Amino acid sequence: MCGIVGVVGNRNATDILMQGLEKLEYRGYDSAGVYVANGDKFSLVKSVGRIADLRSKLGIDVAGTAGIGHTRWATHGKPAEVNAHPHQSATKRFTLVHNGVIENFAEIKEEYLADHSLLGQTDTEIAVHLIGKLVDEEGLSVLEAFRKALLIIEGSYAFALMDAQDSETIYVAKNKSPLLIGLGDGYNMVCSDAMAMIRETNEYMEIHDKELVIVTKDSVSVQDYVGNTIERDSYIAELDLSDIGKGTYPYYMLKEIDEQPTVMRKLISAYSEDSQVIVEPDIVKAVQEADRLYIIAAGTSYHAGFAAKNMLEALTNTPVELGIASEWGYSQPLLSQKPLFIFISQSGETADSRQVLVRANQMGIPSLTITNVPGSTLSREATHTMLLHAGPEIAVASTKAYTAQIATLAFLAKAVGDADGNEKAKDFDLLHELSIVAQSIEASLAEKDVIAKKVEGLLASTRTAFYIGRGNDYYVAMEASLKLKEISYIQCEGFAAGELKHGTISLIEDGVPVIALISSDQAIAAHTRGNIQEVAARGANVLVIVEEGLARETDDIKVVPVHPYLSAISMVVPTQLVAYYATLQRGLDVDKPRNLAKSVTVE
Ligand code: M6R
Repeated sequence: MCGIVGVVGNRNATDILMQGLEKLEYRGYDSAGVYVANGDKFSLVKSVGRIADLRSKLGIDVAGTAGIGHTRWATHGKPAEVNAHPHQSATKRFTLVHNGVIENFAEIKEEYLADHSLLGQTDTEIAVHLIGKLVDEEGLSVLEAFRKALLIIEGSYAFALMDAQDSETIYVAKNKSPLLIGLGDGYNMVCSDAMAMIRETNEYMEIHDKELVIVTKDSVSVQDYVGNTIERDSYIAELDLSDIGKGTYPYYMLKEIDEQPTVMRKLISAYSEDSQVIVEPDIVKAVQEADRLYIIAAGTSYHAGFAAKNMLEALTNTPVELGIASEWGYSQPLLSQKPLFIFISQSGETADSRQVLVRANQMGIPSLTITNVPGSTLSREATHTMLLHAGPEIAVASTKAYTAQIATLAFLAKAVGDADGNEKAKDFDLLHELSIVAQSIEASLAEKDVIAKKVEGLLASTRTAFYIGRGNDYYVAMEASLKLKEISYIQCEGFAAGELKHGTISLIEDGVPVIALISSDQAIAAHTRGNIQEVAARGANVLVIVEEGLARETDDIKVVPVHPYLSAISMVVPTQLVAYYATLQRGLDVDKPRNLAKSVTVE
């Protein structure tokens, strides 16, 4: 949700900002802008649309050694050049980029800026006008004014601020929105995430909430809002430049779908030793001590929680409850005596989940974050972390993170079950079963052409579609329908197959695509087959994705069977490809669907 990059020092700032913005584009892509300073000369260039549109507007005169850039996901004010960042103070002395939402922007405008006329509708413009006013009218230094503004501003933010009278310094601050410092030799950077700085440096420094950082080419000073200096060590990140490229793939999504067998094998090596499943003893103990596990997540990560629920309950003998993070922010159910909160989040930055974690911490509830991003906010602030080892996921549509989340939860369930002497855990050879899952995914990936062909007749021009399934297949149906709708814009519902006849079957008419998922159990499969007959009799265009062994000759896509606890992983892969090909065939941008951003850092 908006990406920020800044650099100061001995480098070509325009190049670095543009390359950083290209890598940050997955965070928001409705408009973008850069501010570049060269001594006392400045350029401000903004554009609606993608980073490529901004690039095409840059003349050779946009050059310098310091600057800030931004790629936007609109919250306040529609995508337009006046609303694109950077924004400037009334006199244009101060220039600011912002990620987040200033909740009291209307009050600030009324109380401090009633006589200021603003160019656009953003909350950010109010923040930079406020800083300018505090300097101009109260005679504060830049640092004092920034500090005072931070005490007035309420909400979430990552800010990077520049002063035209000192183009050698970038002032940054954050609260609830991600921001990181990158350390170089003769230059320093600020950025929303490490991936966008990895070309320049792999040495980073965290910024915590309500900290202000003064960044120059050879110094980084971290302070609290009162002005006390905070000592902070830097760290070296294990990121590989090749992980963040598309290679020869047309889209990141296809690359990430293809990476899933490798991710399964990486997880096997990360969570095992001498053929034994290994999870940190403290984490196992935290689950053992809990009387109920509460999984809190959003979107695809929420669906992964469902896909793992039955397995977790069976192997840990502990009830599992699921919560949508954005709902739990204000409507938390009555909790058990000894809850453990499990946050699932690819990015580790989802604001909805984080607000629940903040509350859990206030209540002294132990927590575990399952995330792909080490050092992310949800990881830092939770009691424990388990990593997904999936490598950077860049396509907005989450694929490899979902399957890695289920597999990681399987390691957790198995480790706890083993420690408890659970009989079902004893019978579940996870390492072997996951290697079968990797092979099953590979077999589905080899059927891409078949899947593309099946999709062509089915989804190329429809407005609506349904996924149906029972048990774990229902959970996969939820995820499969989210994937299809978010990138192909087909309105798609994931339905419990038996529930259709209680109302929704009235939507089935001639030609409506219904994709049925069948895995694992003969008796359940027979019922789903019955539901297929019901929709077919009403004209539905049915496509069946089924595990071999349960398959009939007329079925469309056959999946190599895996252990029932893990069937969501193998069954989801054809549905990811269905979404991918449907989107391609409809001529849409697979990696950057409209209105969305990869990392949702506002509530
Ligand atoms: O980073 P997170 O896993 O916390 O993100 C949660 C959702 O925003 C995310 O899973 C979203 O639903 C996906 N883009 C869907 O593909």
